[in-house]
Amino acid sequence: MFLLSLLFLSTKLSLQTQAPYESILYRPVIDQPRLPSQPHVRQYHHLPLGLNAVAPESIAFDCQGGGPYVGVSDGRILKWQGPLLGWTVFAVISPYRSNSCDGLNDSPAEQYCGRPLGLKFNIVTCELYIADSSFGLVKVGSNGGIATSVATSAEGILFRFLNALDIDSESGDVYFTDSSSHHHRWEYTAIDSTDRSGRLMRYNPKTGRTIVLLKGLSFANGVALSKKRDFVLVAETTLHRVQRYWLTGPGAGTSEEFIKLTGQPDNINRNGNGDFWVAQNPTGPIRVNESGIILESLNNSEIVDCSDVIEFNNSLWIGSVVQSYVMYTS
Ligand SMILES: *[C@@H]1O[C@H](CO)[C@@H](O)[C@H](O)[C@H]1NC(C)=O
Ligand SMILES: *[C@@H]1O[C@H](CO)[C@@H](O)[C@H](O)[C@H]1NC(C)=O
Ligand SMILES: *[C@@H]1O[C@H](CO)[C@@H](O)[C@H](O)[C@H]1NC(C)=O
Repeated sequence: MFLLSLLFLSTKLSLQTQAPYESILYRPVIDQPRLPSQPHVRQYHHLPLGLNAVAPESIAFDCQGGGPYVGVSDGRILKWQGPLLGWTVFAVISPYRSNSCDGLNDSPAEQYCGRPLGLKFNIVTCELYIADSSFGLVKVGSNGGIATSVATSAEGILFRFLNALDIDSESGDVYFTDSSSHHHRWEYTAIDSTDRSGRLMRYNPKTGRTIVLLKGLSFANGVALSKKRDFVLVAETTLHRVQRYWLTGPGAGTSEEFIKLTGQPDNINRNGNGDFWVAQNPTGPIRVNESGIILESLNNSEIVDCSDVIEFNNSLWIGSVVQSYVMYTS
């Protein structure tokens, strides 16, 4: 979820302090298919984070439709509790965390404070799995608290920069990426397209084993499983592309280029129709179908930086590695 987009700092920071918390009701309904005939006229709103928090890179909703939850740059996971309670601290990554971590942004100290980049709930167990760039694959129960370690290495190589994940809702398998085996997240500017140490992996919660599906990736980033669970997409940020790795069928175990992009891809999320939202910078997020055809492009001045797009109840929720708010559409 982390992207090289710090340059796109908003000129609209003043809006954060003005925008009131808006009253939004969430019920446990996953995004509903949008009829093709419905026009995509989207209006953009800001939901400020407060709590001295910035960089809500990825967004998740829990198994009851609660949230959104966001992972922020100082190692906390915040939960939106509605307009009365606002944001509360749901979980922290690091057992060593102190209040001095609060507000930390883009610093090597995140190896002590944590840096949650990928979030997804297992909708059966209601556990929240987190790809943390410093602490590896971790999880926390539905009541939050301090995350516990799930995996820290694969094939004898330590994770260095975990970035994104998706979960198979039937098996509970977790698909996740390590952007680089050479560089930490805070050294991201050193990662260029010659760094082919990124990996796509799968953790099996029944065996506790992690296997490597694809290696040699260049800045492996967003991950999304297809609706039929027959393939998984993985973004390669520095190569401006998304790869498709087949899980079943004649091509099982092989991969191919799924789409070449104008921008650098970050997170990928599937919607209820089986289409994928690919966050990219600076050209703005796109929605593509399973054939890799672009169906919608959010190319507008409202979105100055985007690390994640999630479709939930016909709204889009948009995360950022720069801003201190999340955006949503109506
Ligand atoms: C979905 O969003 C609409 C507003 O866009 C809201 O009126 C409705 O209550 C929401 N439905 C659920 C089930 O959350
Ligand atoms: C975004 O919109 C601008 C202005 O309308 C246009 O010049 C640019 O080519 C568009 N980019 C993409 C990726 O569609
Ligand atoms: C993707 O969209 C294109 C253009 O509308 C369409 O021809 C194609 O069949 C779609 N693919 C899937 C898998 O729906």
